[in-house]
Amino acid sequence: MAKTLFEWDYSDYPGAKKYPHLFKPIEIGNLFVPNRIKYAATEENLNGLDGFITDSGVAYMRERAKGVVGGLCFMQGVYMDEARKGQGYVGQAAAWDDKFIPGLKRIADAIHEQRAVAGFQLMDCGRVGAVEVESGHGPSTVPQRLRIFKPMYEMTNAEVKEMVQQHVDAAKRGVEAGFDVMEISGIVGYLISNFISSYTNRRTDEYGGDIRGRMQAVVEVIQGVKAVCPPDMPVGIRMCLEELLDDVRGNTPEESIESYKIAEEAGADYISCTLGWQESIYPVISRDIPMGNWVHLAKRAKEHVNIPIQMAYRLFKPGLPEEKIGLEELDIWEICRSMIADPLMPKKVLEGREEEIRHCVACNLCLARLFRDAPMTCYINPVCAHEANPEFSDPKPAEEEKEIMIVGAGPAGLECAYVAAQRGHEVHVYDKRDVIGGTLNEAKNAPYGDDELWTCIEYQEVMCKKAGVEFHLGTEVTEDLIEEEMPDSVVLATGPIYSTIEGVGADTGKVVSLADVMSGRADVGEKVVVWGNRKPGIGCALHLAKQGKKVTLVGKDKTAGFDVNPSFKWRYMIYMRQNGITVYNDCDVVEVTDDGIVVKTYDGYHWPIKCDTIVLSQREPNESLKKTVQSEGIEMFIIGDALIPRNLSSAVHDGYRIGIRI
Ligand SMILES: Cc1cc2nc3c(=O)[nH]c(=O)nc-3n(C[C@H](O)[C@H](O)[C@H](O)COP(=O)(O)O)c2cc1C
Ligand code: SF4
Repeated sequence: MAKTLFEWDYSDYPGAKKYPHLFKPIEIGNLFVPNRIKYAATEENLNGLDGFITDSGVAYMRERAKGVVGGLCFMQGVYMDEARKGQGYVGQAAAWDDKFIPGLKRIADAIHEQRAVAGFQLMDCGRVGAVEVESGHGPSTVPQRLRIFKPMYEMTNAEVKEMVQQHVDAAKRGVEAGFDVMEISGIVGYLISNFISSYTNRRTDEYGGDIRGRMQAVVEVIQGVKAVCPPDMPVGIRMCLEELLDDVRGNTPEESIESYKIAEEAGADYISCTLGWQESIYPVISRDIPMGNWVHLAKRAKEHVNIPIQMAYRLFKPGLPEEKIGLEELDIWEICRSMIADPLMPKKVLEGREEEIRHCVACNLCLARLFRDAPMTCYINPVCAHEANPEFSDPKPAEEEKEIMIVGAGPAGLECAYVAAQRGHEVHVYDKRDVIGGTLNEAKNAPYGDDELWTCIEYQEVMCKKAGVEFHLGTEVTEDLIEEEMPDSVVLATGPIYSTIEGVGADTGKVVSLADVMSGRADVGEKVVVWGNRKPGIGCALHLAKQGKKVTLVGKDKTAGFDVNPSFKWRYMIYMRQNGITVYNDCDVVEVTDDGIVVKTYDGYHWPIKCDTIVLSQREPNESLKKTVQSEGIEMFIIGDALIPRNLSSAVHDGYRIGIRI
């Protein structure tokens, strides 16, 4: 009989009625898991630089363990070699010695405290590794495509055997630390995938050759790890079903299927179906890829193996995994970023509180930070990585109850509003528009997935209503109104001011505002110059190019998209090229002429660009009302784009920080 760790009865929960397949049990190997939910392994760079677990790492995991409501909760992949070639992140947890066991046990215990199933992951980062040393190891010496990664050198036959043993020894430590499931990570270009792929494995010994040869090291890892795990501890593996490496002669789909069959033969108790490499040229998980785009791969995997198949990859909402599990095309719903953004996401699904979920917006800032040796944070979740600090993650009720006037119902104002109201303040949100959302009302109309940004406003609206925030929409805040209300605190979240071009008013007919263009109110000619090369300008340029207009993007920054995180910026660069947008960076506007605009390039040339319409997207801080509030002696905060024009993330983070402080 399969081992049961914790009893869970979901029958009375609304979510279990709505999503019966997500909340039904499954046996994986000899372990009984009460539901189909898994928090997938996630590096967060929160551990010590020496690989020891920290309080921050434990607190981070404890929150995610609460979220899976009895399901699988995996800690990040650990590196296993003292030489640190397998270490891919400066704060990656280590398991190359017994001295790491007590720290690892803290994580297993924190997961068990929440009555969830604790997963341990073995992850030699291979081509993505060697973050702290000069060079990394791999099956063959194949040059890196991405400059941020270190050169790779071919492992000797003895080193391959040593690597297998390192997996086995680290697995023993995971068992001793108290974990319940063992996983080998072979995704996105890490060492296991390097052995499997024809792109990176060019060996001629027993660890290379055809797919069976390339799987030999993996088979030895699976069998070695299984031998040291108790019989009721499932051993699974994450493997690519589509590498998306055709341009460098990576594995064919048939070879990938074969690798799955070989892993099953070797004794794997489940496979987590993954796709893409860091080095593949196709996007896989960014916002421009529709949700559910890849889930058909799980079905393909299930057609060829008989062990449970788990899968993540843009499955951000419960409906699709519910459907696929019901159709037996998937067995377990893996979740990574949606639980970075909201650790309690599946718990809220179970409890019928879906509208309270703060949705991931697939921006990949979390990943970008890891690759820049910074602790992971989340674009949309200000608490992420601060779970160990109760002042930040669980703010206290306000000592003195205040009447707070928040000017602006955009993401900064709304975030501040519900947080302050939850702490006991009386909060009034004013906006001159008669709708909430501020500039996101327009920004959400940009193509390539920006409509998903609106989920932030939907969440904030629900939270404001629950916290009792009072809204005064269609109401412009004036000096008189402030004097009349005389609140205890004023928060200015008024959004940015859009810069005009010197000497040219917005009333020339040719010059239109970004908001008017993005909302469809402005008449826009066929040839357009968008002034301002940050995210709002790029979104607008793409929006217009999609309508068939000839668009030129001109801006002061040295590169377009300076405010877009690097893990998403490359997508915009490609889309601008694909949509025929001409870009002039590091430029200023000299004058607007009858038939267009004259820009001054960084080296002093005056360059005329013909256009019918000029869109202003360049932004400045918004100082209006500041003096009035100050002159009344009222406590004042300025947040979001009104303080310094930035992005949605800064708005949310500013709003939260002031909300917990005020
Ligand atoms: C910040 C971050 C860290 C990750 N760390 C790991 C890891 O340690 N091991 C692993 O196998 N996958 C790791 N992944 C991959 C995820 O587990 C997951 O497969 C991927 O993000 C796709 O799922 P999603 O669309 O739900 O985010 C990481 C992903 C992210 C975004
Ligand atoms: S940083 Fe972006 S991609 Fe990562 S979890 Fe947060 S919202 Fe999602």
